[in-house]
Amino acid sequence: MEKLVSLCKRKGFIFQSSGIYGGINGCWDFGPLGVELKKNLKDDWWYFFVQMRDNMFGLDASIITHPQVWVASGHVEAFHDLLVDCKSCKHRFRADQLEGDRCPDCGGELTEPRAFNSMLRTRLGVSDDTAVETYLRPETCQSIFVDFKDVCSSVRTKIPFGIAQIGKSFRNEVNPRNFIFRSREFEQMEIEFFCRESEEEQWFERWQQDIWQWYLDLGLDPAKLRWYEHPKESLAHYSKRTVDVEYDFPWGWGELQGLANRGTYDLTQHSTHSGKDLSYFDADTKEHFTPTVIEPSAGVDRTTLAVLCNAYFEEEVKGEQRVVMRLHPKLAPIKAAVLPLVKKDGLVEIAEDLEAKLRRKFKTYYDHTAAIGRRYRRQDEIGTPYCICVDYDTKENGTVTIRDRDSMEQVRVPMGEVAAWIQQRVTFERD
Ligand code: GAP
Repeated sequence: MEKLVSLCKRKGFIFQSSGIYGGINGCWDFGPLGVELKKNLKDDWWYFFVQMRDNMFGLDASIITHPQVWVASGHVEAFHDLLVDCKSCKHRFRADQLEGDRCPDCGGELTEPRAFNSMLRTRLGVSDDTAVETYLRPETCQSIFVDFKDVCSSVRTKIPFGIAQIGKSFRNEVNPRNFIFRSREFEQMEIEFFCRESEEEQWFERWQQDIWQWYLDLGLDPAKLRWYEHPKESLAHYSKRTVDVEYDFPWGWGELQGLANRGTYDLTQHSTHSGKDLSYFDADTKEHFTPTVIEPSAGVDRTTLAVLCNAYFEEEVKGEQRVVMRLHPKLAPIKAAVLPLVKKDGLVEIAEDLEAKLRRKFKTYYDHTAAIGRRYRRQDEIGTPYCICVDYDTKENGTVTIRDRDSMEQVRVPMGEVAAWIQQRVTFERD
Protein backbone atom coordinates (compact mmCIF):
# COMPACT_ATOMS: atom_id res chain seq x y z
CA MET A 1 0.00 0.00 0.00
CA GLU A 2 2.77 2.45 0.90
CA LYS A 3 4.39 2.01 -2.50
CA LEU A 4 1.06 2.50 -4.26
CA VAL A 5 0.18 5.60 -2.24
CA SER A 6 3.57 7.07 -3.01
CA LEU A 7 3.26 6.28 -6.74
CA CYS A 8 -0.22 7.82 -6.78
CA LYS A 9 1.13 11.05 -5.37
CA ARG A 10 4.33 11.15 -7.43
CA LYS A 11 2.63 10.44 -10.74
CA GLY A 12 -0.48 12.55 -10.19
CA PHE A 13 -3.19 9.98 -9.52
CA ILE A 14 -4.23 11.00 -6.00
CA PHE A 15 -3.07 13.72 -3.59
CA GLN A 16 -4.00 14.45 -0.03
CA SER A 17 -6.55 17.26 -0.06
CA SER A 18 -5.29 20.67 1.14
CA GLY A 19 -1.79 19.19 1.39
CA ILE A 20 0.01 22.53 1.74
CA TYR A 21 -2.04 23.20 4.91
CA GLY A 22 -1.19 19.82 6.39
CA GLY A 23 -4.06 17.96 4.73
CA ILE A 24 -7.63 17.41 5.79
CA ASN A 25 -8.60 14.04 7.15
CA GLY A 26 -10.81 11.89 4.94
CA CYS A 27 -10.63 14.07 1.82
CA TRP A 28 -8.60 13.37 -1.33
CA ASP A 29 -7.86 15.12 -4.60
CA PHE A 30 -7.60 13.28 -7.90
CA GLY A 31 -4.70 14.60 -9.98
CA PRO A 32 -4.31 14.67 -13.79
CA LEU A 33 -4.04 10.88 -14.13
CA GLY A 34 -6.48 10.04 -11.34
CA VAL A 35 -9.19 12.14 -12.87
CA GLU A 36 -8.85 10.33 -16.21
CA LEU A 37 -8.88 6.91 -14.53
CA LYS A 38 -11.95 7.76 -12.47
CA LYS A 39 -13.73 9.21 -15.49
CA ASN A 40 -13.02 6.09 -17.54
CA LEU A 41 -14.37 3.93 -14.72
CA LYS A 42 -17.56 5.96 -14.43
CA ASP A 43 -18.03 6.02 -18.21
CA ASP A 44 -17.65 2.25 -18.33
CA TRP A 45 -20.19 1.80 -15.53
CA TRP A 46 -22.63 4.12 -17.28
CA TYR A 47 -22.14 2.35 -20.58
CA PHE A 48 -22.63 -1.13 -19.09
CA PHE A 49 -25.46 -0.41 -16.67
CA VAL A 50 -27.32 2.46 -18.33
CA GLN A 51 -26.61 2.92 -22.03
CA MET A 52 -26.73 -0.82 -22.86
CA ARG A 53 -30.19 -1.30 -21.33
CA ASP A 54 -33.51 -0.13 -22.67
CA ASN A 55 -35.04 0.20 -19.20
CA MET A 56 -32.46 2.40 -17.45
CA PHE A 57 -32.64 6.18 -17.09
CA GLY A 58 -30.14 8.65 -15.70
CA LEU A 59 -30.41 11.38 -13.11
CA ASP A 60 -28.10 14.06 -11.75
CA ALA A 61 -29.80 15.50 -8.69
CA SER A 62 -28.58 18.23 -6.34
CA ILE A 63 -26.27 17.34 -3.47
CA ILE A 64 -28.14 19.62 -1.09
CA THR A 65 -31.75 18.64 -0.62
CA HIS A 66 -34.75 19.54 1.50
CA PRO A 67 -33.93 18.52 5.11
CA GLN A 68 -37.15 16.48 5.27
CA VAL A 69 -35.64 14.04 2.76
CA TRP A 70 -33.34 12.80 5.51
CA VAL A 71 -36.06 12.66 8.12
CA ALA A 72 -38.17 10.51 5.79
CA SER A 73 -35.24 8.30 4.75
CA GLY A 74 -34.52 7.48 8.38
CA HIS A 75 -31.04 9.04 8.35
CA VAL A 76 -31.79 11.73 10.95
CA GLU A 77 -33.04 9.03 13.29
CA ALA A 78 -30.81 6.08 12.44
CA PHE A 79 -27.60 7.16 10.65
CA HIS A 80 -25.52 7.04 13.79
CA ASP A 81 -22.17 5.68 14.80
CA LEU A 82 -21.46 4.77 18.42
CA LEU A 83 -18.20 6.36 19.50
CA VAL A 84 -15.92 5.84 22.43
CA ASP A 85 -12.97 7.99 23.50
CA CYS A 86 -9.84 6.86 25.29
CA LYS A 87 -9.56 8.72 28.60
CA SER A 88 -5.74 8.59 28.43
CA CYS A 89 -4.60 9.18 24.83
CA LYS A 90 -7.90 10.79 23.73
CA HIS A 91 -8.08 8.70 20.56
CA ARG A 92 -11.58 8.10 19.27
CA PHE A 93 -12.97 4.79 17.98
CA ARG A 94 -16.16 3.33 16.59
CA ALA A 95 -17.56 1.09 19.30
CA ASP A 96 -18.54 -1.62 16.79
CA GLN A 97 -14.97 -1.86 15.47
CA LEU A 98 -13.35 -2.46 18.86
CA GLU A 99 -12.30 -5.80 20.24
CA GLY A 100 -12.23 -5.74 24.04
CA ASP A 101 -13.03 -2.87 26.39
CA ARG A 102 -9.63 -1.09 26.53
CA CYS A 103 -8.03 1.41 24.15
CA PRO A 104 -6.29 -0.52 21.32
CA ASP A 105 -3.59 2.19 21.08
CA CYS A 106 -2.51 2.64 24.72
CA GLY A 107 -4.62 0.21 26.77
CA GLY A 108 -6.34 3.12 28.54
CA GLU A 109 -9.87 3.20 29.91
CA LEU A 110 -12.64 4.02 27.42
CA THR A 111 -15.68 6.28 27.87
CA GLU A 112 -19.23 4.95 27.55
CA PRO A 113 -20.38 4.81 23.88
CA ARG A 114 -22.12 7.95 22.60
CA ALA A 115 -24.16 8.25 19.42
CA PHE A 116 -23.11 10.72 16.69
CA ASN A 117 -25.01 11.34 13.50
CA SER A 118 -22.73 10.80 10.50
CA MET A 119 -24.35 13.33 8.17
CA LEU A 120 -22.49 16.54 7.34
CA ARG A 121 -24.58 19.55 8.18
CA THR A 122 -24.69 22.73 6.18
CA ARG A 123 -26.67 25.97 6.21
CA LEU A 124 -28.52 27.15 3.15
CA GLY A 125 -29.20 30.89 2.96
CA VAL A 126 -27.16 34.02 3.61
CA SER A 127 -28.51 35.49 6.80
CA ASP A 128 -28.54 33.73 10.15
CA ASP A 129 -32.26 34.26 10.76
CA THR A 130 -33.44 32.85 7.42
CA ALA A 131 -30.84 30.18 6.78
CA VAL A 132 -32.12 26.61 6.78
CA GLU A 133 -30.07 23.83 8.26
CA THR A 134 -29.77 20.81 6.01
CA TYR A 135 -27.31 18.09 5.08
CA LEU A 136 -24.88 17.15 2.37
CA ARG A 137 -26.33 13.88 1.11
CA PRO A 138 -24.85 10.74 2.69
CA GLU A 139 -26.04 8.63 -0.27
CA THR A 140 -27.14 9.56 -3.79
CA CYS A 141 -30.15 7.25 -3.93
CA GLN A 142 -32.64 9.30 -1.91
CA SER A 143 -33.06 11.87 -4.68
CA ILE A 144 -33.94 9.00 -7.02
CA PHE A 145 -36.87 8.13 -4.74
CA VAL A 146 -37.85 11.77 -4.33
CA ASP A 147 -37.80 12.30 -8.13
CA PHE A 148 -39.46 8.95 -8.85
CA LYS A 149 -42.76 10.43 -10.06
CA ASP A 150 -41.08 13.07 -12.25
CA VAL A 151 -38.80 10.54 -13.95
CA CYS A 152 -41.67 8.06 -14.38
CA SER A 153 -43.92 10.52 -16.13
CA SER A 154 -41.17 12.08 -18.23
CA VAL A 155 -39.88 8.82 -19.70
CA ARG A 156 -43.30 7.07 -19.94
CA THR A 157 -41.81 3.71 -19.22
CA LYS A 158 -43.19 0.52 -17.76
CA ILE A 159 -42.07 -1.40 -14.76
CA PRO A 160 -39.52 -2.98 -14.37
CA PHE A 161 -37.09 -0.10 -14.91
CA GLY A 162 -34.22 1.58 -13.16
CA ILE A 163 -32.90 5.06 -12.42
CA ALA A 164 -29.14 5.51 -12.19
CA GLN A 165 -27.04 8.26 -10.73
CA ILE A 166 -23.34 8.96 -10.22
CA GLY A 167 -22.41 11.63 -7.73
CA LYS A 168 -20.75 12.79 -4.56
CA SER A 169 -21.81 11.69 -1.09
CA PHE A 170 -20.57 12.83 2.29
CA ARG A 171 -20.26 11.08 5.63
CA ASN A 172 -18.59 12.21 8.81
CA GLU A 173 -16.66 8.96 9.15
CA VAL A 174 -15.09 8.59 12.59
CA ASN A 175 -12.01 6.85 11.30
CA PRO A 176 -11.34 7.68 7.64
CA ARG A 177 -8.67 5.17 6.67
CA ASN A 178 -6.97 2.94 4.15
CA PHE A 179 -6.21 5.72 1.67
CA ILE A 180 -9.34 6.47 -0.38
CA PHE A 181 -11.22 3.39 0.88
CA ARG A 182 -13.07 5.18 3.67
CA SER A 183 -13.31 8.92 3.12
CA ARG A 184 -15.62 11.68 4.22
CA GLU A 185 -16.27 12.87 0.69
CA PHE A 186 -16.63 10.16 -1.95
CA GLU A 187 -18.55 9.24 -5.08
CA GLN A 188 -21.23 6.63 -5.53
CA MET A 189 -22.73 4.96 -8.59
CA GLU A 190 -26.22 3.89 -7.63
CA ILE A 191 -29.18 2.29 -9.33
CA GLU A 192 -32.67 2.01 -7.92
CA PHE A 193 -34.42 -0.71 -9.89
CA PHE A 194 -38.21 -0.70 -9.56
CA CYS A 195 -40.03 -4.00 -9.99
CA ARG A 196 -42.99 -6.00 -8.71
CA GLU A 197 -42.56 -7.69 -5.35
CA SER A 198 -43.35 -11.05 -6.96
CA GLU A 199 -40.23 -10.63 -9.16
CA GLU A 200 -37.83 -9.36 -6.50
CA GLU A 201 -35.77 -12.53 -6.20
CA GLN A 202 -35.41 -12.95 -9.93
CA TRP A 203 -34.18 -9.35 -10.33
CA PHE A 204 -31.91 -9.59 -7.30
CA GLU A 205 -30.20 -12.60 -8.87
CA ARG A 206 -29.96 -10.92 -12.27
CA TRP A 207 -28.31 -7.84 -10.76
CA GLN A 208 -25.92 -10.03 -8.82
CA GLN A 209 -24.77 -11.67 -12.06
CA ASP A 210 -24.39 -8.38 -13.92
CA ILE A 211 -22.49 -6.72 -11.09
CA TRP A 212 -20.06 -9.65 -10.91
CA GLN A 213 -19.54 -9.53 -14.66
CA TRP A 214 -18.76 -5.81 -14.51
CA TYR A 215 -15.95 -6.36 -12.01
CA LEU A 216 -14.51 -9.19 -14.09
CA ASP A 217 -14.65 -6.99 -17.18
CA LEU A 218 -12.62 -4.34 -15.33
CA GLY A 219 -9.87 -6.93 -15.18
CA LEU A 220 -10.07 -7.50 -11.42
CA ASP A 221 -8.59 -10.83 -10.34
CA PRO A 222 -11.58 -13.16 -9.61
CA ALA A 223 -9.59 -14.81 -6.80
CA LYS A 224 -9.66 -11.43 -5.03
CA LEU A 225 -13.42 -10.97 -5.34
CA ARG A 226 -16.16 -12.54 -3.25
CA TRP A 227 -19.76 -12.08 -2.15
CA TYR A 228 -20.66 -11.48 1.48
CA GLU A 229 -24.24 -12.04 2.61
CA HIS A 230 -25.30 -9.82 5.52
CA PRO A 231 -26.90 -11.80 8.33
CA LYS A 232 -30.57 -10.89 8.88
CA GLU A 233 -29.90 -9.36 12.32
CA SER A 234 -27.35 -6.84 11.03
CA LEU A 235 -29.27 -5.53 7.99
CA ALA A 236 -29.67 -1.76 7.60
CA HIS A 237 -33.04 -0.36 8.68
CA TYR A 238 -34.35 -0.29 5.08
CA SER A 239 -33.10 -3.64 3.84
CA LYS A 240 -34.82 -7.00 3.36
CA ARG A 241 -31.62 -8.54 2.05
CA THR A 242 -28.10 -7.23 1.32
CA VAL A 243 -25.09 -8.85 -0.28
CA ASP A 244 -21.76 -7.06 -0.78
CA VAL A 245 -19.04 -7.53 -3.35
CA GLU A 246 -15.74 -7.53 -1.49
CA TYR A 247 -12.19 -7.16 -2.77
CA ASP A 248 -9.09 -8.56 -1.11
CA PHE A 249 -7.15 -5.32 -0.48
CA PRO A 250 -3.58 -5.40 0.90
CA TRP A 251 -5.05 -4.98 4.44
CA GLY A 252 -7.82 -7.57 3.92
CA TRP A 253 -11.32 -7.89 2.47
CA GLY A 254 -13.29 -4.67 2.02
CA GLU A 255 -16.69 -3.78 0.52
CA LEU A 256 -16.78 -2.44 -3.02
CA GLN A 257 -20.49 -2.47 -3.60
CA GLY A 258 -23.72 -3.39 -1.87
CA LEU A 259 -26.75 -4.98 -3.52
CA ALA A 260 -29.85 -4.50 -1.39
CA ASN A 261 -33.51 -5.30 -1.59
CA ARG A 262 -34.97 -2.10 -0.13
CA GLY A 263 -38.53 -3.34 -0.61
CA THR A 264 -41.05 -0.51 -0.60
CA TYR A 265 -39.43 1.25 2.36
CA ASP A 266 -38.21 4.46 0.72
CA LEU A 267 -41.11 5.25 -1.59
CA THR A 268 -43.53 4.59 1.27
CA GLN A 269 -41.56 6.82 3.64
CA HIS A 270 -41.33 9.71 1.17
CA SER A 271 -44.98 9.35 0.29
CA THR A 272 -45.97 9.51 3.96
CA HIS A 273 -43.68 12.44 4.80
CA SER A 274 -44.39 14.55 1.69
CA GLY A 275 -48.08 13.71 1.43
CA LYS A 276 -47.54 13.00 -2.30
CA ASP A 277 -48.65 9.78 -3.92
CA LEU A 278 -45.55 7.89 -5.07
CA SER A 279 -47.30 4.75 -6.22
CA TYR A 280 -46.93 3.36 -9.73
CA PHE A 281 -49.93 2.98 -12.04
CA ASP A 282 -49.92 -0.01 -14.34
CA ALA A 283 -52.00 1.01 -17.35
CA ASP A 284 -52.41 -2.61 -18.50
CA THR A 285 -53.72 -4.08 -15.26
CA LYS A 286 -55.15 -0.78 -13.93
CA GLU A 287 -53.41 -1.37 -10.60
CA HIS A 288 -51.78 1.22 -8.35
CA PHE A 289 -48.95 -0.16 -6.26
CA THR A 290 -45.66 0.80 -4.61
CA PRO A 291 -42.82 -0.90 -6.48
CA THR A 292 -40.17 -2.97 -4.76
CA VAL A 293 -36.63 -1.64 -5.13
CA ILE A 294 -33.45 -3.58 -5.84
CA GLU A 295 -30.43 -1.34 -5.31
CA PRO A 296 -26.90 -1.88 -6.63
CA SER A 297 -24.78 0.74 -4.86
CA ALA A 298 -21.11 1.00 -5.76
CA GLY A 299 -18.31 3.29 -4.63
CA VAL A 300 -16.27 5.01 -7.35
CA ASP A 301 -13.30 5.59 -5.06
CA ARG A 302 -13.22 2.06 -3.70
CA THR A 303 -13.43 0.56 -7.17
CA THR A 304 -10.66 2.93 -8.31
CA LEU A 305 -8.52 1.76 -5.39
CA ALA A 306 -9.23 -1.91 -6.16
CA VAL A 307 -8.29 -1.32 -9.80
CA LEU A 308 -5.03 0.37 -8.74
CA CYS A 309 -4.12 -2.37 -6.23
CA ASN A 310 -4.96 -5.03 -8.81
CA ALA A 311 -2.77 -3.38 -11.45
CA TYR A 312 0.41 -2.72 -9.46
CA PHE A 313 3.29 -5.10 -10.29
CA GLU A 314 7.02 -5.04 -9.75
CA GLU A 315 9.12 -7.27 -11.96
CA GLU A 316 12.64 -7.75 -13.23
CA VAL A 317 13.37 -7.12 -16.89
CA LYS A 318 16.90 -7.78 -18.17
CA GLY A 319 18.36 -7.34 -14.70
CA GLU A 320 16.47 -4.11 -14.03
CA GLN A 321 13.41 -3.60 -11.90
CA ARG A 322 10.31 -2.23 -13.56
CA VAL A 323 7.08 -1.08 -11.94
CA VAL A 324 4.15 -1.66 -14.21
CA MET A 325 0.51 -0.78 -13.75
CA ARG A 326 -1.41 -3.43 -15.67
CA LEU A 327 -4.57 -1.34 -15.89
CA HIS A 328 -7.21 -2.57 -18.30
CA PRO A 329 -6.61 -0.48 -21.47
CA LYS A 330 -10.17 0.90 -21.30
CA LEU A 331 -9.38 2.34 -17.84
CA ALA A 332 -5.82 3.53 -18.47
CA PRO A 333 -5.57 7.34 -18.11
CA ILE A 334 -3.36 7.64 -21.19
CA LYS A 335 -4.04 5.26 -24.03
CA ALA A 336 -0.92 5.84 -26.11
CA ALA A 337 2.38 7.67 -25.78
CA VAL A 338 4.08 8.88 -28.94
CA LEU A 339 7.86 8.79 -28.67
CA PRO A 340 10.40 9.73 -31.36
CA LEU A 341 13.39 7.37 -31.12
CA VAL A 342 15.78 10.33 -31.07
CA LYS A 343 15.41 14.09 -30.96
CA LYS A 344 16.83 14.74 -34.41
CA ASP A 345 16.68 13.90 -38.12
CA GLY A 346 13.06 15.03 -38.45
CA LEU A 347 11.60 12.31 -36.19
CA VAL A 348 10.24 14.84 -33.68
CA GLU A 349 8.11 16.56 -36.33
CA ILE A 350 6.62 13.26 -37.55
CA ALA A 351 5.89 12.16 -33.96
CA GLU A 352 4.31 15.49 -32.99
CA ASP A 353 2.14 15.41 -36.06
CA LEU A 354 1.00 11.83 -35.33
CA GLU A 355 0.24 12.64 -31.69
CA ALA A 356 -1.84 15.66 -32.71
CA LYS A 357 -3.95 13.38 -34.93
CA LEU A 358 -4.37 10.62 -32.34
CA ARG A 359 -5.32 13.13 -29.64
CA ARG A 360 -8.66 13.67 -31.39
CA LYS A 361 -9.59 10.03 -30.75
CA PHE A 362 -8.22 9.27 -27.28
CA LYS A 363 -5.95 10.57 -24.52
CA THR A 364 -2.34 10.65 -25.67
CA TYR A 365 1.03 11.80 -24.42
CA TYR A 366 4.11 13.03 -26.23
CA ASP A 367 7.64 12.70 -24.86
CA HIS A 368 11.05 13.18 -26.42
CA THR A 369 13.17 13.55 -23.30
CA ALA A 370 15.62 10.85 -22.08
CA ALA A 371 16.54 7.51 -23.64
CA ILE A 372 13.75 5.49 -25.20
CA GLY A 373 14.02 2.71 -22.55
CA ARG A 374 13.53 5.23 -19.78
CA ARG A 375 10.53 6.74 -21.54
CA TYR A 376 8.95 3.26 -21.87
CA ARG A 377 9.42 2.70 -18.11
CA ARG A 378 7.72 6.00 -17.28
CA GLN A 379 4.69 4.95 -19.29
CA ASP A 380 4.69 1.44 -17.74
CA GLU A 381 4.54 3.02 -14.31
CA ILE A 382 1.37 4.95 -15.11
CA GLY A 383 -0.28 2.11 -16.99
CA THR A 384 -0.13 3.41 -20.59
CA PRO A 385 -0.97 0.30 -22.61
CA TYR A 386 0.69 1.35 -25.88
CA CYS A 387 3.85 3.25 -26.76
CA ILE A 388 4.29 4.32 -30.35
CA CYS A 389 7.86 4.81 -31.47
CA VAL A 390 8.72 6.91 -34.53
CA ASP A 391 12.09 5.69 -35.82
CA TYR A 392 14.21 5.78 -38.98
CA ASP A 393 12.03 3.17 -40.70
CA THR A 394 9.12 5.54 -40.27
CA LYS A 395 10.85 7.94 -42.62
CA GLU A 396 11.53 5.13 -45.08
CA ASN A 397 8.20 3.30 -45.17
CA GLY A 398 5.69 5.26 -43.04
CA THR A 399 5.34 2.60 -40.34
CA VAL A 400 5.82 2.96 -36.56
CA THR A 401 6.34 0.41 -33.81
CA ILE A 402 3.66 -0.12 -31.19
CA ARG A 403 4.95 -1.58 -27.94
CA ASP A 404 2.62 -3.50 -25.69
CA ARG A 405 2.99 -2.53 -22.01
CA ASP A 406 2.47 -6.04 -20.60
CA SER A 407 4.34 -8.28 -23.04
CA MET A 408 6.75 -5.51 -24.11
CA GLU A 409 6.48 -6.94 -27.62
CA GLN A 410 6.52 -4.58 -30.59
CA VAL A 411 4.66 -4.69 -33.88
CA ARG A 412 5.04 -2.45 -36.92
CA VAL A 413 1.91 -0.68 -38.06
CA PRO A 414 1.41 1.82 -40.91
CA MET A 415 0.90 5.30 -39.44
CA GLY A 416 -2.51 5.65 -41.09
CA GLU A 417 -3.78 2.55 -39.25
CA VAL A 418 -2.51 3.41 -35.77
CA ALA A 419 -5.64 5.26 -34.60
CA ALA A 420 -7.98 2.38 -35.45
CA TRP A 421 -5.51 -0.23 -34.11
CA ILE A 422 -5.45 1.45 -30.71
CA GLN A 423 -9.06 2.55 -30.58
CA GLN A 424 -10.22 -1.02 -31.02
CA ARG A 425 -8.16 -2.11 -28.00
CA VAL A 426 -8.97 0.71 -25.57
CA THR A 427 -12.70 1.05 -26.06
CA PHE A 428 -15.16 0.05 -23.35
CA GLU A 429 -17.79 -0.66 -25.98
CA ARG A 430 -18.98 -4.25 -26.12
CA ASP A 431 -20.31 -6.12 -29.14
N1 GAP B 1 -27.62 3.69 -0.85
C1 GAP B 1 -27.03 2.62 -0.17
C2 GAP B 1 -25.71 2.94 0.37
O1 GAP B 1 -25.27 4.07 0.35
P1 GAP B 1 -23.63 1.88 1.55
O2 GAP B 1 -23.26 0.44 1.69
O3 GAP B 1 -23.65 2.72 2.76
O4 GAP B 1 -25.06 1.86 0.84
C3 GAP B 1 -22.60 2.04 -0.84
O5 GAP B 1 -22.69 2.55 0.47
C4 GAP B 1 -21.18 2.09 -1.36
O6 GAP B 1 -20.65 3.41 -1.23
C5 GAP B 1 -20.20 1.21 -0.56
O7 GAP B 1 -20.22 -0.12 -1.02
C6 GAP B 1 -18.89 1.89 -0.84
O8 GAP B 1 -18.37 1.45 -2.08
C7 GAP B 1 -19.27 3.35 -0.96
N2 GAP B 1 -18.98 4.04 0.32
C8 GAP B 1 -19.75 4.10 1.42
N3 GAP B 1 -19.14 4.81 2.39
C9 GAP B 1 -17.95 5.21 1.89
C10 GAP B 1 -16.86 5.96 2.40
N4 GAP B 1 -16.89 6.50 3.62
N5 GAP B 1 -15.79 6.17 1.61
C11 GAP B 1 -15.74 5.67 0.35
N6 GAP B 1 -16.74 4.94 -0.18
C12 GAP B 1 -17.83 4.70 0.57
